[in-house]
Amino acid sequence: MSDATGVAARRLGLIPPYLFAEIDRQVAAKRAAGVDVISLGIGDHDLPTPRRIVDALQEAALDPANHQYPSYFGLADLRQAIADWYRRRFGVALDPVSEVLPTLGSKDGISHVPFAFVDPGDLVLAPSPGYPIYVTGALMAEGEAHLMPLTAENGWLPDLDAIPPQAARRAKLMWLNYPNNPTGAVAGRDFLARAVEFCREHEIILCHDFPYSEIAFGGYRPASLLEVPGGRDVGLEFHSLSKTFNMTGWRVGWVCGRADLVRLLGQLKTNIDSGIFQAVQWAAVEALRGGEEDTRAACQVYARRHRKVADVLNSLGWRLEPPRATFYVWAPVPPGYDSIGFARAVLDQAGVNLTPGVGFGPHGEGYFRLSVTAPDARLDEALERLRKLKV
Ligand SMILES: Cc1ncc(COP(=O)(O)O)c(C=O)c1O
Repeated sequence: MSDATGVAARRLGLIPPYLFAEIDRQVAAKRAAGVDVISLGIGDHDLPTPRRIVDALQEAALDPANHQYPSYFGLADLRQAIADWYRRRFGVALDPVSEVLPTLGSKDGISHVPFAFVDPGDLVLAPSPGYPIYVTGALMAEGEAHLMPLTAENGWLPDLDAIPPQAARRAKLMWLNYPNNPTGAVAGRDFLARAVEFCREHEIILCHDFPYSEIAFGGYRPASLLEVPGGRDVGLEFHSLSKTFNMTGWRVGWVCGRADLVRLLGQLKTNIDSGIFQAVQWAAVEALRGGEEDTRAACQVYARRHRKVADVLNSLGWRLEPPRATFYVWAPVPPGYDSIGFARAVLDQAGVNLTPGVGFGPHGEGYFRLSVTAPDARLDEALERLRKLKV
């Protein structure tokens, strides 16, 4: 990040330039020039938050009891609703007082974890490609990131045996994220069990970022780290209502798992934020207690769109299977392009915004990510334009 005025803290200089901000700039420039850009770049639902949740917010917003500072640690009802949801969904019994902490979306928890656990010089094991905050969070805490390459050959799972022993010794945290952004890959209990074993052996805190747990298709049900034997002894799981209930704008999620880790993250957060607007917390209670119909309906929409994208891209020469989870398509760029060049060509020729894989780390080079979160008519239009690409 450049700082023309010289006022930025050294910490900010540690963070690499944010590619996505540059892409936003390019898209804005196209729009300003009159191009009707269709964005398939960002993982933000086009479907509305279910009505029952909005109603709960409205009702709670009218109650003055919800207008004051919320509790730092979240409403008891919300913590209980989260614990009940975990028990129903994963068969995992969580103590709502000590093992659950509501957060302002999962990004809040994820970005603050390194400040609670990483000292200067500590190592953070982060997947590449991966959600960029795993690395930038480590850097902001003046730790170092050791990248774990995800490759097609390994099913987009890190090769734990390839982590050098000296890196494993220095590592304080390991990030995993399945179902995975950006690859759409999933991990079975066996892989999670191996990661638990690795982290137990090397005394590493295993952080499982799990916001796509409910965005899965064809009956597939992603597994929680906490249902794997030993998982709750080594780690934390980060969860969100953003994707499950079409609530990205509401900023509500939680972290759960090992009690001492949850407590330390809570201790840090009490010094940083003042909790979640209580009316939003009541809406979250409604979301979690209200059953799965809305989420299943959204997944049917995503699954249908995934099939459509795969059909069109396959007709153009790709060989893709729709993913088992997430709303992302992860696909190789055509020969002769790097990922930024391909995304640029698609934006220039078709007015469609895709995300270059390298934005998720060096091992994302050679790929692009497309999100099926545009309304059907816009997605259809984007696919029609892609059919005419000359790449
Ligand atoms: C892998 C992953 N983790 C976390 C988040 C953050 O979600 P939120 O802060 O909305 O809960 C996202 C959002 O796209 C994500 O893709």
